[in-house]
Amino acid sequence: MNRAPQVFVLDAGGQYCHLIARKVRDLGVYSEVRASETPAAELAGARALIISGGPNSVYDPSSPTVDPAIFRSGACVLGICYGQQLMAHLLGGTVQLGQKGEYGLATLELDGCAGPLFDGISGPQQIWMSHRDLVSAAPSGFSILGRTATCSIAAIAEPARGLYGVQFHPEVVHTTRGRQILSNFLFQICHCTRDWDPRHRVPQIEAEIRQAVGDRNVFFFVSGGVDSTVAWALCQRALGEGRVRGVYVDTGLMREGETDYVRRMPGLTVESAESQFLGALAAVRDPEQKRHIIGEEFVRVQERIIESCHLLDGHWILGQGTIYPDTIESGGTEKAAVIKTHHNRVPGIQRLMEAGRIVEPLRSYYKDEVREIGRELDLPNEILDRHPFPGPGLAIRCLCADADAAVTATAEGCLLPVHSVGVQGDSRTYAPVLSIESLDHARATELINRISGVNRVIARVRTAAPLSALQVRASSLTPERLSRLRRADAIVRRLSHASGFDAHVWQFPVVLIPLGTAAAPDSVVLRPIDSVDGMTAQSVAMPADLLQSISTELMALPGISGVFYDLTHKPPATIEWE
Ligand code: XMP
Repeated sequence: MNRAPQVFVLDAGGQYCHLIARKVRDLGVYSEVRASETPAAELAGARALIISGGPNSVYDPSSPTVDPAIFRSGACVLGICYGQQLMAHLLGGTVQLGQKGEYGLATLELDGCAGPLFDGISGPQQIWMSHRDLVSAAPSGFSILGRTATCSIAAIAEPARGLYGVQFHPEVVHTTRGRQILSNFLFQICHCTRDWDPRHRVPQIEAEIRQAVGDRNVFFFVSGGVDSTVAWALCQRALGEGRVRGVYVDTGLMREGETDYVRRMPGLTVESAESQFLGALAAVRDPEQKRHIIGEEFVRVQERIIESCHLLDGHWILGQGTIYPDTIESGGTEKAAVIKTHHNRVPGIQRLMEAGRIVEPLRSYYKDEVREIGRELDLPNEILDRHPFPGPGLAIRCLCADADAAVTATAEGCLLPVHSVGVQGDSRTYAPVLSIESLDHARATELINRISGVNRVIARVRTAAPLSALQVRASSLTPERLSRLRRADAIVRRLSHASGFDAHVWQFPVVLIPLGTAAAPDSVVLRPIDSVDGMTAQSVAMPADLLQSISTELMALPGISGVFYDLTHKPPATIEWE
């Protein structure tokens, strides 16, 4: 594309760097992402520069920086999170480690005359934070525009030089007026003009598919989920049905009824590979290991099919429904930390990508955009409104343990030696879980911010015995445990659909953890969350009568000793437990 961007987002390694660029485009202004160190001369002509957040501390010598000349280049600059800290640091202010972290929702108190960045916004504001470092002294010439209970310099400005900074994230939906703040920056401060229409994406994507595929044909693994179905439909439209073949692999890691559901989709073949996947995963406990094995088995199935169908001779290439967060969270952007390895990015797939034998039409889109694209394609709501379900399936919702371990009572609750994956300050964590006795989200957030070494807080809903009598047991991904999880998941889905609750949540993982008694060795964790794009998420409360009926049915399942409720937002927890 030869258009000159009015806005460059400077990537300092944050998970949300590309989200900023997308939000700017949504506001009708074309933007591109560049490495934060890009020389100011290469950014000349832009009206606005936005420095993203990032996982580093500005005092680490190896941390990302920017060319200081950008602050006098004529473009206005907005620093977000780490971006604000970096701006303050380079211009003579002070940044230091905060006394405690601030992860999740916070309230911004604005100064009486906060100026154009907050035009049209007054009173206390819900914002979203993810930081430990903070600006403790603004550079001279800057005024402080707002504060939170934890962070006394949450927004700064030096209007004469067009420099602005915010510690919070205006690009995520949980900052209620975030869109207005970005719009104020672009139009009131930088005087950008509208030059980008975020609608009518389909013709552009189709053209990109035709260009990437050339005269080859596309072979798709369709999971039945929104992403791969939309990607597949796009390829069929772009290339014609005869050039696109879809195969659904039954990995044995799918939910109850899933394979039957997919069988009803027209034009798909089902390949049964249950024993192959479950055999390879039999003794595996480590989450990253599970992902690698699943990815490699997928490639093996693919190779087998390619060979048996002679797809290589016919110039077939692989199509995938990878969406943007999948590539970001695998460290796919220049600096984003590896939170987890997405199964679409394991070495086998990488080799195909390097050989140019892959097409991923949705790789720069987010989930909500994928649904919009699906509506543009007239795909039925039944498909588009399905909750997302991860490619590695129930394998990442069935937790395993290397050894037996006891529950420890602490002043705040019981520490369960079940390790789950989380994301804190843009980096991956792998930590035990704290169980408390009340379904109290505010208390859970307070505990997470206060206690180090814990990335999730869950509430005990019901257990067959006191928590101290339960223990974590060495366990792996056995067919028996998977079938237990499948039954638990089916119960939760049935009851939450019947009550209408499933329409109020973005996703509702049901997780099996190896905590129980010798006779009933597992427990179930309910994880209903609200989100827009999966990048951040809020744990949501459910009606008491629904929780009552779900937990009653779950406790009646053979092998189940307890039911818990995950109260943790993302971050610091991820949506999946892994
Ligand atoms: P996390 O657990 O990272 O999940 O907060 C964010 C969203 O991504 C989904 N997810 C995946 N989807 N393949 C997928 O297709 C994967 O490997 C994968 N891992 C996580 C997850 O269900 C949530 O919606």
